[in-house]
Amino acid sequence: MNILLLGSGGRECALSWKLTQSPLCTQLYIASGNAGTATYGTNVSMGINDFEALKKFCLKHKIDILFPGSEEPLVHGVYDFFKNDAMLKHIIVPGPSKAGAQLEGSKVFSKKFMARHQIPTAAYAEFDESTFEAGLEYLNKHTTPIVLKADGLAAGKGVVITSDIAEAKVVFTDMIRHAQFGDASKKVVVEEFLTGIELSVFAFTDGKHYVLLPEAKDYKRVGEGDTGPNTGGMGAISPVPFAQGEFMQKVITRVVEPTINGLRAEQITYHGFVFFGLINVAGDPYVIEYNCRMGDPETEVVMPRLENDLVAMVLKMNEQKLNEVAIKHSANAAATVMLVSGGYPGDYAKGKAISGLELAKNSVLFHAGTKESKGSIETSGGRVLAITSLAADLKSALSQSYQNAELIEFEGKHYRRDIGFEF
Ligand code: AMP
Ligand code: GLY
Repeated sequence: MNILLLGSGGRECALSWKLTQSPLCTQLYIASGNAGTATYGTNVSMGINDFEALKKFCLKHKIDILFPGSEEPLVHGVYDFFKNDAMLKHIIVPGPSKAGAQLEGSKVFSKKFMARHQIPTAAYAEFDESTFEAGLEYLNKHTTPIVLKADGLAAGKGVVITSDIAEAKVVFTDMIRHAQFGDASKKVVVEEFLTGIELSVFAFTDGKHYVLLPEAKDYKRVGEGDTGPNTGGMGAISPVPFAQGEFMQKVITRVVEPTINGLRAEQITYHGFVFFGLINVAGDPYVIEYNCRMGDPETEVVMPRLENDLVAMVLKMNEQKLNEVAIKHSANAAATVMLVSGGYPGDYAKGKAISGLELAKNSVLFHAGTKESKGSIETSGGRVLAITSLAADLKSALSQSYQNAELIEFEGKHYRRDIGFEF
């Protein structure tokens, strides 16, 4: 199988690591990848939303599987583009149709979908320019904190939580009237605030059946104790200690199955990953968000714990025979610590030389924002490197990752020292 993977972060590095372990993988190309993915396959400089360029490349290199790592091409309809083209439709795309990707691409769509299928989620109301004044009135009466969400994709920045009603009105106005997130915030969802511990659950579906991958928890805030601004993720752990027994049974019967069955009942074509961003509210799961792809940095702990052949799983998905796949989770715990550039998620410098990579032992280094320049490796993004370790328990896995976090250096290096702190 020749595979073209779309994306360039730590998630895609972990997927490259996993895909190339499969004897079914002949050639792996990554668009556009990073210094880490280049060690598993061939990086190709190509825009992941340039479907004509993807087409030319896939035909020239006889690609069998187009693997979207990130949501963007899916929300823009890459699945439909391939399936509606006679020359491309044989190519397997483990991802949903444009209609299915709306689960992530539109908060309004996902809230209505959950309402139709009685899937537990925070109470909400939606507003746009035509209901702007009613929205301000609604905010006046809302309990705090208030959660405001831009409807569309906003590079992970479209959610604002505030305890101040005046501030909520300013944010609401900026979103709808001043295009704070462009067209993505023309519609806004105002949501009840839920309190609990979050976790990420992943299903892989063929539209009919699904399998559950190991669950994970990511650490989104830049500072220790979950403080400071949101980031793309500062670390992750798997398994999540409370994700078992009765709680996981509720996740399956109240969330996962109604979602997969709901998509099917509505004849929405959906293959590939469903990422359930959940919160455990006093023992009951609620959906915070759906994503139509794997999480980052969750992939960096999920893939090392998944013992199945991922390419074989994609082939079973394509045959709608995922019922024949039994998922095998490693009994080990996995922990990822993300090294980030100083200043991230605000402004940060790029092009800083990274040293000590060869000193790291007993961890896998998944590159995120790195690139090769004149034979050495330098930083090229906010999140630079995910250090993943597997060990018999979470504490040991974390301690292995932290030892290596000390050995790897670049100017401005920052990382959270408390990943997994609640457990
Ligand atoms: P999202 O981009 O939808 O994942 O939201 C970003 C983060 O905002 C989530 O990971 C949660 O930490 C938080 N969040 C979103 N919705 C809610 C909610 N209804 N209640 C509490 N926290 C929320
Ligand atoms: N870690 C959250 C996400 O990938 O959206």
